[in-house]
Amino acid sequence: MRARRGSASRSAAAKNKKGLTADGRLTIAIDGPAGAGKSTSARDLANALALRYIDTGAMYRGVAWAVVRAGVAPDDRRRVRSLLARTALSFTDEAEPRLLVDGHDASAALRSPDVSQAASRLATVPEVRTFLVRAQRRLARGGGVVMEGRDIGTVVLPRADVKFFLDASVEERARRRWKQLGATGRSEPRSAIEAAIRERDHRDRTRAVSPLRAADDAVVLDTTRDSRARVKRMLLDWVRRKTGVR
Ligand code: DC
Repeated sequence: MRARRGSASRSAAAKNKKGLTADGRLTIAIDGPAGAGKSTSARDLANALALRYIDTGAMYRGVAWAVVRAGVAPDDRRRVRSLLARTALSFTDEAEPRLLVDGHDASAALRSPDVSQAASRLATVPEVRTFLVRAQRRLARGGGVVMEGRDIGTVVLPRADVKFFLDASVEERARRRWKQLGATGRSEPRSAIEAAIRERDHRDRTRAVSPLRAADDAVVLDTTRDSRARVKRMLLDWVRRKTGVR
C-alpha cells in the first residue's frame, strides 16, 4: 500500500514547544462514532483554517473497494495482505479531496452497501489497520491537516495539536442518517437505521484492535442539540483557545 499526499505536499516542519508546527501548520484529530457530525465538522474546520481535510474512513472504504473488486473475501488475510502490497491510495488535491485507488476515482462506489460492509469487516483486520495507520501518518507529515476517523487521536496522531471526540445520541444519529438517505431518494425505517447504528457502535467500541474511544486529552463534545454552524463555532473556539491561532 502506498499513499501520497498529492502535489501540495510540503516538507515537514519542526514542532515547537506549544505543539504548533513552526510555520503554524496545525494537526487536528477528530474522532467519534458514525453520524456524530465528524465529516461535516472536519470539512468546515479545514476550510476555515485553510488546512487539508483527510477522511480516513474513505481509506478503509478504498481498501474495501479494491478487495471487493478483486473478489477477495475480507477475512482471507493472506490474499488481503497481498492485495494491500499492490494497491496505491492517494487523494486528489482539492477542497473536497477524492480518493484514488490505483489511479481510479472510486468515490462513487465507496458508500455502496457491499463496500461499507467489507470496510467494516476489514477495519478489524490488524494488517489493514497497520497499513492504513502508516499511510495516514505519511499524509499528516508536516502538519496542516484535519484528519477524521475512529482512532486518530488515540493511535494515528497521538501528538495532534488539538483532538476532538464528537458524539451524539443514537436517536439523533439515526435521524440524521435517515434524513440523509431521504435526500438521496432512498428510504429505510428509522428503527432499522437505529438498530444498525447500535450494532456498529458495539462493534467499533469493543473490537480488539484500536477500539473507538476518546483520547484522554480530547475535547469531548455532544452535538445532539447543535446545528452545523454552532458545532463549527465551538470547534474553532477550542482550536483558538488551545493553540492561539486566529
Ligand atoms: O467513517 P466511515 O463510515 O466512512 O468508515 C468506514 C469504516 O472504516 C467503518 O467501518 C469504520 C472504519 N474506520 C476505522 O475503523 N478507523 C478509522 N480511522 C476510520 C474508519
